[in-house]
Amino acid sequence: MSKQNALWQTETLLTHAGRKGKAHSGPVNPPVIRASTMLFPNVAALNQATGTRGIYGRHGNETTHALEHALCAAEGAATCLLTPSGLSAITTTLLALLKPGDHLLMVDTTYDPTRLFCDGLLKQIGVSTTYYDPLIGAGIATLMQANTKVVFVESPGSLTFEVQDIPAIAKVAHAQSALLVSDSTWATPIGWSSFALGIDVSIHAATKYIVGHSDALMGIILTTAALADTLRCTYKQLGLTISGDDAALALRGLRTLSARLAMHRSNAHAIANWLQAQPEIASVLYPPLPGSPGHAIWQRDFRPEYACGLMGAVFRADITEQQVAALIDRTELFGIGFSWGGFESLILPTAPAQVRTVHADQWQAPMIRLHVGLEGVQDLISDLEAGFSALRGAVAIKAIAPPRIQPAAA
Ligand SMILES: Cc1ncc(COP(=O)(O)O)c(C=O)c1O
Repeated sequence: MSKQNALWQTETLLTHAGRKGKAHSGPVNPPVIRASTMLFPNVAALNQATGTRGIYGRHGNETTHALEHALCAAEGAATCLLTPSGLSAITTTLLALLKPGDHLLMVDTTYDPTRLFCDGLLKQIGVSTTYYDPLIGAGIATLMQANTKVVFVESPGSLTFEVQDIPAIAKVAHAQSALLVSDSTWATPIGWSSFALGIDVSIHAATKYIVGHSDALMGIILTTAALADTLRCTYKQLGLTISGDDAALALRGLRTLSARLAMHRSNAHAIANWLQAQPEIASVLYPPLPGSPGHAIWQRDFRPEYACGLMGAVFRADITEQQVAALIDRTELFGIGFSWGGFESLILPTAPAQVRTVHADQWQAPMIRLHVGLEGVQDLISDLEAGFSALRGAVAIKAIAPPRIQPAAA
């Protein structure tokens, strides 16, 4: 990319970054390269290439490099590493930045498998972890230890969507020479200026909005020039790579990311407003929505035009899990499945209290997570209306159900 390109609008970057420019003749997209072995015409050429990237399939190829360039441009990073899943991007980064005896501050609302890694492999190699309240802000200073090397943020948090005060946390971390690592999947590469906020390593599960079509798994590590070598060294030792086919899928997804987010966002706003008006809902957890918890910080730190379609909703405490199951089962357009960020709407019951250690008692009421997709929003609302009448019907049935016969009396 030329220097001029750094001034382009996000949409232009997403369309042109990682491509060869006007002088290029040939297909718009890079070829999808499938290769393990690279051939050299003679020993001199082999010797000349040794030590450079591109001598072996695992080091990447034209397809993966185009994706790396485009992602760096989209988020303003110096280096991009592509991993086989979002989780492997997280674990690789933590392995690269932490060594035995180090301490990690991990947000309590982290994606649960990240917690399993901290409590499992990291602990096994002698790295200790303290989980902290996502709303701690500058108060994180009280948890910093002399050996704290990484502070990990995920904002909004998994399942409960707390918005963290990233600049305040970055200030404390950097004052003690600790690094700030972020699971930025919700934000996507264009939803905030991660590095300007103080983040040193921005990780994405590209599986979600970047691939965007629920047909590939991928992780991304984006970082500064200062950390590039450290991260690449661990990445290489772990033997990580992705296929040319998956790179092409992610590149295709990235080209339309802003256009898709515009529709996810507008559908999600409509659904969040609709949910908020339902008497069974105690609160809607969608930070872009005025009045939703975390909205003020979200508005300060995120780019509102690129909000995504993932949200939570908390039911009144008297609503039962069976009623929520009736709602979920009745909807037709909201698929029941893990993950999010594809073109389609999804719904899941959630139980954050089961996986939290800080303020777990706050989350006792039944909850759902919704991924609002690209369907027509009126159809989505009608679908949820049907779901809510099933939920209400489940109450009615409960009210008239005969008392259960006790086994002893049967
Ligand atoms: C916030 C967040 N980070 C990371 C991941 C892991 O991504 P992957 O499934 O690609 O490993 C997920 C998956 O749901 C996620 O929700």
